Amino acid sequence: MLFFALFCLGVIIDDYNSDDGASWPEPARRAKVPLEAHIMSKCPDAKDCLHDLILPAMQNVSDMVDFTLSYVGESTPYDGVKCMHGQTECLGNMIELCAAHLYPDPKIYLGFTMCLTRDYAEIPKRELVQDCALEHSISMEALNDCLNAEDGGKAVEMLRESFNRTADAGVTKSCTVRLNGEIRCVRDGGKWKECEGGHSPEELVSEIQELAATGLWS
Ligand SMILES: *[C@@H]1O[C@H](CO)[C@@H](O)[C@H](O)[C@H]1NC(C)=O
Ligand SMILES: *[C@@H]1O[C@H](CO)[C@@H](O)[C@H](O)[C@H]1NC(C)=O
Repeated sequence: MLFFALFCLGVIIDDYNSDDGASWPEPARRAKVPLEAHIMSKCPDAKDCLHDLILPAMQNVSDMVDFTLSYVGESTPYDGVKCMHGQTECLGNMIELCAAHLYPDPKIYLGFTMCLTRDYAEIPKRELVQDCALEHSISMEALNDCLNAEDGGKAVEMLRESFNRTADAGVTKSCTVRLNGEIRCVRDGGKWKECEGGHSPEELVSEIQELAATGLWS
């Protein structure tokens, strides 16, 4: 257990100037409850978190939620990126960010990301990416263009922005779920932690429904 705890714990201390990275139109944004999951593409805790909590909850309340998927890792000097599970994880993160960029509907890019995460050890093998893209009607060509844009600079920039967003939120662990800006639940070392309101999707769903009904989100 301790092994996994260390495995997915990123330590990032810095000040950042974060762009909020969201691309929802203003009116839709105002009406929705912010929900965010901070993950790493090759982290087993991210797999459990997406599979057991985020996806089942989103299936029922995606229309009430302004969802963001962010990444845990480090922006390094000279436009670099560093990931807990190595550069292949950074590439996996960029593939997922490109999918989200190209297909902003969470149903599509979350499904695709879950598909990759199910076989996280195989990330970023082309065959896996191809299978998942096919399963979620994502164009491999568009994905490739996104990854290669500006000699790969654009995808790295998106990943750096995402890392900065996570760091700005004070989040260091994959997977951390934040609801309405507050930590709602953490999946770490194969265990749920800091889940005061419970870690079942049903509990998360009713909390989101309550927030949406009362409009008490920030
Ligand atoms: C991310 O943070 C680093 C360190 O503060 C900063 O140098 C960089 O410009 C930021 N990048 C983005 C894309 O916001
Ligand atoms: C989603 O809605 C269905 C039908 O109302 C319900 O049976 C199910 O328990 C709900 N799931 C969650 C996670 O709330």
